[in-house]
Amino acid sequence: MAGRFVDQIIKKRDGGELTDEEIRDMIDRYMAGDIPDYQMSSMLMAIYYSGMSDREITTLTLAMRDSGEQVDLSSIPGMKVDKHSTGGVGDKTTLIIGPIVAACGIPVAKMSGRGLGFTGGTVDKWESIPGYQTDMSMESFFELVRKHGISLVGQSGDLAPADKALYAMRDVTGTVESIPLIASSIMSKKLAAGADKIVLDVTVGNGAFMQDLDRAKELAKRMVAIGDGAGRETVAMLTDMNEPLGHAIGNNLEVKEAIEMLHGRGPEDLQEICYALAGMMISLASGADGEAAAPAGADPRLKDKLSYEQGIELAKEKIADGSAWEKFKEVVASQGGDISYVEDPSKFPVAPCYCELKAESDGYIGWIDTMGFGLAAGRLGAGRATKEDVIDPSAGIVLHKKIGDEVHVGDVIMTIYGGSPEQPGKPRYVIEENTQGVAVDLKKCFRIDKEKPTEQPRIYEIIR
Ligand code: URA
Repeated sequence: MAGRFVDQIIKKRDGGELTDEEIRDMIDRYMAGDIPDYQMSSMLMAIYYSGMSDREITTLTLAMRDSGEQVDLSSIPGMKVDKHSTGGVGDKTTLIIGPIVAACGIPVAKMSGRGLGFTGGTVDKWESIPGYQTDMSMESFFELVRKHGISLVGQSGDLAPADKALYAMRDVTGTVESIPLIASSIMSKKLAAGADKIVLDVTVGNGAFMQDLDRAKELAKRMVAIGDGAGRETVAMLTDMNEPLGHAIGNNLEVKEAIEMLHGRGPEDLQEICYALAGMMISLASGADGEAAAPAGADPRLKDKLSYEQGIELAKEKIADGSAWEKFKEVVASQGGDISYVEDPSKFPVAPCYCELKAESDGYIGWIDTMGFGLAAGRLGAGRATKEDVIDPSAGIVLHKKIGDEVHVGDVIMTIYGGSPEQPGKPRYVIEENTQGVAVDLKKCFRIDKEKPTEQPRIYEIIR
């Protein structure tokens, strides 16, 4: 329906609804180079101000999904449930949840992204295990899922290319923070990745994309509506990101913490979030009939519909009986990783330079600038500012004290790990000498209060 695109810009600018045909045409023509960037940036701003109805968002999502390759997981028996987090600091949940869910016999075919911005993405975490391959053909990926019930790889470059193009435009036009555009961006990639059902971890707080609970809830509702509208049952969990998840931030530091968790020794907050997300995935996968029924060898309890709470119990059981840990090792070995590192995590390289930040007063940790921690970890080498940057797998921060913890003068609040080829083995940032550097910034990223702060929930709401 080629025509004057400016008419659709005006319609949206004035609060009108675009037809399905207009939306599909917009994406097709933009990808074909028939709509110039200046017009698309104007349309994005019109959407930013005028919003979109659920129907418009769903159509936009499906048009972006259809712009590239779509993974067809139908040849893998069983119900495939995907999990996606809108991001946070210290989020190593995929490394833990994937093996838990696979240990139940639910197939896990998961593609994750690389980090750009501050801390590394899930792919960077996997790659901190020497030898682990995240880059493989679709055939090899499927083969691993068939053989081991699980494969955790990097995202193919061909999923939803229209989202990639639009995101690049949003990034430079001040239109990233539009709920319809965020919802369609995330869901276009999730739908293209082929799972039957989707669990969304929508993080909220000062380390998350959404800082405000009402906006996070709105985003979650929109994404659930898109998933359901596309015939993929979707559940969103609103989880707290007002402090890093767990203690470790940085790639091999997070892998080591994930290994602890898989042995049942994870920090309380990480345990709660992992069990909740895994429990929801198990619940969604259970009770299916026909081709989606749990494959041979799966936990027999999956034959019946399990509640979320029963799913959590099953997830806990898979940690307690060691089967999730065995599955984790199977994943690492099957993807070329050196299993000796995960069996003996002391083999992982430790950053040559480190320092400790200590409490200078008595009290309780009352506030944490979570994004500040993420940015600091990035500067230490745990993340990349440009695609070409090389990650230092051992760089990052271990936060020993979290919100609500009591501290006394001299207690170590955090250990900061970085690399410095010039001074191997020596602390790079020595806070006592008041040197400039990451430690100085991190000192401003937490506060010690006299009063113990009131406890906040870790899971605010579940949206179905
Ligand atoms: N993550 C995405 O994939 N897209 C957005 O728009 C925001 C976060």
